[in-house]
Amino acid sequence: MLKIENLTKTFGNHEALKAISTTFPENQTTVILGPSGSGKSTLLRSLNFLEKPESGHYHFDDLDIDLAKPVSSQTILNIRRQTEMVFQGYNLFPHLSVIKNVMEGPVQVLHKSKAEAHKQAAELLAKVGLAEKADVYPAQLSGGQAQRVAIARSLAMHPKYIFLDEPTSALDPELELEVLKVLLQIAKEKQSMIIVTHNLAFARQVADKIIFVEDGRILFDGSTHDFFATKNQRILDFILAMTFSDLEE
Ligand SMILES: Nc1ncnc2c1ncn2[C@@H]1O[C@H](COP(=O)(O)OP(=O)(O)OP(=O)(O)O)[C@@H](O)[C@H]1O
Ligand SMILES: [Mg+2]
Repeated sequence: MLKIENLTKTFGNHEALKAISTTFPENQTTVILGPSGSGKSTLLRSLNFLEKPESGHYHFDDLDIDLAKPVSSQTILNIRRQTEMVFQGYNLFPHLSVIKNVMEGPVQVLHKSKAEAHKQAAELLAKVGLAEKADVYPAQLSGGQAQRVAIARSLAMHPKYIFLDEPTSALDPELELEVLKVLLQIAKEKQSMIIVTHNLAFARQVADKIIFVEDGRILFDGSTHDFFATKNQRILDFILAMTFSDLEE
C-alpha cells in the first residue's frame, strides 16, 4: 500500500502541493484528475522521487519516510524497483529492437536469463497486441504502438505500481483508443496503477478511485461512482468543461 500524509512540494515560492494526504490502494487503479497546473504531475513524480517533497510522510508497505529528512539513494532505488513510470514520450531505446527494449530491464536489473526475458517479452508484446513488431525498431512504430511497448516494458519489471502521466496525450484518438484498451485490460487484471489523464470517459471506466486536484489541494478523494455523482459545483464545472472541450477540437 502506498500512502502519503501532508505531502508538501514547493518550487521557488510556489507551493505546488499543499500538505496533501491520500492512499493509493493496491490492485486498484487510481486516476488523478484536475485542471492544468493543479499539481497532478508533481504528485505523481513525487511518488517515485523524481521530485523531492519538502515535508510530509511517505509510506510504502513497511517503509515509512519522513520527507523533511534526506532520503538515501538506496531507498529511492528500492522504491523505483517497485514503481514503474510510463512517460508521455515513451522513452524507448532507439538502438534496440522492440523485444530487446522489453528484455533490457529484466536482464540488466533483475538479472534474468536472456532466454527467460525473451519468453516473457514475447508474451507481453502479444498481450499489448504487438507480437508481430518484436523485431522492428522504435522509429518504425506509430505513437500508439510505441506507448504500448513502453507499457509492456514496465510490466516486464513486475512493479507493484505503474505510474502513467497522460499516457495518451501525444496521440490522436484512434491510436489513443488502442492504448486505453490495453490499460483497461491491465486494470482488470488488478495491476496497481496511478494514472493522470484528461480523458474522463476513460477515467470513468478504468478507475476504482479518483483524486481531483486543484491548486495543489485534493478537492475530491473517493470512488469513481461518487465522483461522477458529485454535487460539488467546482467538480461539476470541471466535468462539463472537459466534456465540451472534446467537442471544440
Ligand atoms: N520544475 C518546476 N519548476 C518550477 N515550477 C514547476 C516545476 N514543475 C511544476 N511547476 C509548477 O507547479 C505547478 C504544478 O505543476 P504540474 O506540472 O504538477 O501540473 P499538472 O497538474 O501536471 O498540469 P498539466 O495538466 O498541465 O500537466 C504549476 O504551477 C507548475 O508551473
Ligand atoms: Mg502534468
